[in-house]
Amino acid sequence: MAIEARSVDEMRQALQERLAGIVPEVELAYKAELAWEINRLKQERGAVILGHNYMEPALYYSVCDYTGDSLELSRVAARTDANPIVFCGVRFMAETAKILNPDRTVLLPAERAGCSLAESITAEDVRRLREQYPGVPIVAYINTYADVKAEVDICCTSGNAAKVVQSLDADTVIFLPDEYLARNVARETGKRIVFPTRRPVPEARAREAERNGVEYTIVSWHGRCEVHEQFTVEDIQRVRAQFPDVVVLAHPECSPEVVEAADFSGSTAAMIRYVRSVDAPRYLLLTECSMADNIIAEAPEKEMVRLCSIRCRHMNQITLEDTLASLRENRYVIEVPDEIARRARRSIERMLEIA
Ligand code: 13P
Ligand code: SF4
Repeated sequence: MAIEARSVDEMRQALQERLAGIVPEVELAYKAELAWEINRLKQERGAVILGHNYMEPALYYSVCDYTGDSLELSRVAARTDANPIVFCGVRFMAETAKILNPDRTVLLPAERAGCSLAESITAEDVRRLREQYPGVPIVAYINTYADVKAEVDICCTSGNAAKVVQSLDADTVIFLPDEYLARNVARETGKRIVFPTRRPVPEARAREAERNGVEYTIVSWHGRCEVHEQFTVEDIQRVRAQFPDVVVLAHPECSPEVVEAADFSGSTAAMIRYVRSVDAPRYLLLTECSMADNIIAEAPEKEMVRLCSIRCRHMNQITLEDTLASLRENRYVIEVPDEIARRARRSIERMLEIA
């Protein structure tokens, strides 16, 4: 929930109380001015600001009316009466908000805030897969653009991927574009996994797939998150060697080996809930670094092991400066052509009904 302050000074004090030791004081003084002006303008315009869990701490705590993971924010976007919706996240998230609530103006503060997964696949790729595997249901991760969502049968997020796949009445499921998430879902659901894609599949990986269950075959695409693919099992081993009592949480966009070596895996919101509810001496979060800052700000008694050189260069483009410019200049307006939006909405709504 955004900070309600009656003056810049009050905003600065509130931010300092929350973020002392996390964000330098001099930075907070400057950010408090921006945040105060954003909230004033937001009220004047009747806007709402949605912020993904990866937003930097000052922005996350000062101006976002709702924070959450992709699934939670898409639900908020679908039901809000506010206009415009300012989406502090990346383009595919803002597009999803526009698709679910087409009468609202949706603004993305940074025009080029993309995602390596969304960029790994095109609508044409999906059409080709359809031809290659006629009758096989296609599941798209929410981290895809609207034209891809328009071609698939159903969407999923990291918070409901296994549930969505389980709900499909088919032996074979195409799951795209995240190779790692597909393999994690296959493991979680006990299904079999195959990679008939552009690149040949290494034999060892094919054998591993064989060892999984047999109820479904999940055909996956080789997309990867450029942030989560960087975490390794060795990272976990090194931290465990130093802190044997650490609890390790990994986002399911990490490799299956990393997820297997972790103690918990779930969406960003599920990871936050886990840290809130499970008392551990210390935690290691294998995900974008801002999230650990945001958790520490809320619960300073929780100890986080910092392994924090990995930022999402797309999420990090969203700044308080750009959020203010977004409200002042009504930019960048997200548009989705009607026919694509209509077909993409069907895939997203199917997911929302199931999960
Ligand atoms: P969540 O839906 O878990 O927030 O994930 C979105 C994302 O882009 C993670 O990298
Ligand atoms: Fe995309 Fe990865 Fe950034 Fe999430 S963290 S927005 S999946 S590039």
